[in-house]
Amino acid sequence: MQTTFEVPSNLRGSTYISTELYQRMYRHSIEEPLAFWEQQAHEFISWRKPWRSVLEFDYHKAKIAWFLGAELNVCENCVDRHLVTRANKTAILWEGNEPGEVRKLSYADLHREVCKFANVLKSRGVKAGDRVAIYMPMVPEVAVAMLACARIGAVHSVIFGGFSAESVRDRILDSQCKVLVTGNEIVRGPKTIALKQIADEALQQAPCVESVVVFQRTKSPTSMQPGRDLWWHDVMAAASAECPALAFDSEHPLFILYTSGSTGKPKGVMHTSGGYLLYTALTHKYVFDYRENDIYFCAADVGWVTGHSYIVYGPLANGATTVMFESIPTYPNAGRYWDVIDRHQVNIFYTAPTAIRTVAKEGPELPAKFSLASLRVLGSVGEPINRDAWLWYYEQVGRSRCSIVDTWWQTETGGILISPLPGATPQKPGSATLPLFGIRPCLVDDDGKVIEGNGVKGKLCISFPWPGQMRTVYGDHERFVQTYFSQFPGKYFTGDGCTRDEDGYYWITGRVDDVLNVAGHRLGTAEIESAIVSSGVVAEAAVVGMPHELKGIGIYAFCVLRDGGKSGGATAELAIKDAVRKVISPIATPDRIQFVPGLPKTRSGKIMRRILRKIANGDFENFGDITTLADPSVVDEIAKGARAVPA
Ligand code: WT7
Repeated sequence: MQTTFEVPSNLRGSTYISTELYQRMYRHSIEEPLAFWEQQAHEFISWRKPWRSVLEFDYHKAKIAWFLGAELNVCENCVDRHLVTRANKTAILWEGNEPGEVRKLSYADLHREVCKFANVLKSRGVKAGDRVAIYMPMVPEVAVAMLACARIGAVHSVIFGGFSAESVRDRILDSQCKVLVTGNEIVRGPKTIALKQIADEALQQAPCVESVVVFQRTKSPTSMQPGRDLWWHDVMAAASAECPALAFDSEHPLFILYTSGSTGKPKGVMHTSGGYLLYTALTHKYVFDYRENDIYFCAADVGWVTGHSYIVYGPLANGATTVMFESIPTYPNAGRYWDVIDRHQVNIFYTAPTAIRTVAKEGPELPAKFSLASLRVLGSVGEPINRDAWLWYYEQVGRSRCSIVDTWWQTETGGILISPLPGATPQKPGSATLPLFGIRPCLVDDDGKVIEGNGVKGKLCISFPWPGQMRTVYGDHERFVQTYFSQFPGKYFTGDGCTRDEDGYYWITGRVDDVLNVAGHRLGTAEIESAIVSSGVVAEAAVVGMPHELKGIGIYAFCVLRDGGKSGGATAELAIKDAVRKVISPIATPDRIQFVPGLPKTRSGKIMRRILRKIANGDFENFGDITTLADPSVVDEIAKGARAVPA
């Protein structure tokens, strides 16, 4: 079995970074981080005012600030500064839901639209620091709205279009958004989602929103509330295209993005301006070996951090042509990605393992029908990529002549932290390989002791700040400290388990906390459990991950019925699934529900999840010490039931 794939010969010597240069730059970035980042900050960003200090931080208090005293305008960096040389270059290349439904916005177009929308926001009373919620279809106007916020110093909070009314409401309330930008409908594959209707439901309990701007994606009738709701096309037609970009502090908040953790409601991950933009621009250039005339296609949704950093901010800061894809990989068939790649001559393609597995299932015949000759770099993100999916991607899509970059990072990290570099890093299928510049990964054991050397396993921490790191949990700094800096004092704890092999390569093994990566979507077991209980039919629930062929991780719910199990069966299952869809989103729907007489609890009432994880993984023995359970007999009953539940 081939374990290491050397740099493809066609890429050797032709990329920005070679094996030797990586080592040299990495060493410099670790030995002299301030000098390193200072140099990069000059190269990637246009500043209005220089910094007085590069970095100030205290990992015990979770205080992190980069380029203190410096000023910039993020929107100007992503748009205005390209007008001199790239005014007519396509900034956003939109491929709509139907194949060939294409829109192109040049940098000049983007500038005009962004200025107009910034004026629209101002006319609705939005000022620097105010929050604006964006809950939209995947159209270029999402990027326009985000950049318009950045232009005037407003803080955007993009909410994934798949979230339910309750999820939208909670997010809007948590950060007290003043304006909501939405669309009338989402079209995704064969389905449509009545987005405005869901938004209206959310707004019934979110009085902080004063104005709603609605982008008309389809011609379906849409109800508009006079005085509050405005059509995007109406307000844009009336708006001026003159909007000066003011300078903001490097640490001025840029956006909030909600993400799930092991406990409680999703938290508002807050990113700021200078450091974030520098980090996304730099990683976009080097990880994808991005070149001026490349067509760059990240197939994520802008509702997730991948879309923020690698559809919008990183690529646009670098003056790239970024493809925005509205549809799904299987519409009208599982060859859609390849069709988009050939038609637009895509050079760099970035997607998730779950999407690769989904299209790979249909066999190699589909990609074989396409040329795919334009491709040079293929990226993967969101979950560990299994060997089979990696090889399929490498061989069937990349035709064994493209670099695969398995990029490990998180909403919290703002950008990619561990990844191969094309042309520089020999690849091993399933390993995210080596840290990027300035990143100091370390593995720790349960007692927080750093595990040195190679061929070891532990919990992944990062021991020094990088510019793209999140700065706080919006409105709850204490939660920021507790979640990331308290378990292993002095280090940022990622929540991931990890192996460092004999060559010093990192292999992410998945979450070690109560967070699940389901089809690349991040969900907390606690939020799913509370949604299940809200169905009314369940007294208690415990959710764990289980292996899933396509999603990587599926959701396994152990439920104790309220009436002792008399009702049971199909009706209860439906009620549970409905509740989860309503409270969170269809993405959180359990893949398997097992009704159990009780949960394995210790005498102090804590659920022993490791037992449930074993059962969900098909291991019905080897439970280890269960003597501390209040009622050990429940374990056998659950195991017996699990064997009987149809998969
Ligand atoms: C979690 C973060 C990063 C943007 C999308 C997900 C998992 C992410 C990889 C990878 C193995 C990965 C981790 C991480 N993850 N990329 N290349 N290999 N695992 O962002 O929703 O914040 O999720 O995704 O478990 O902690 P997110």
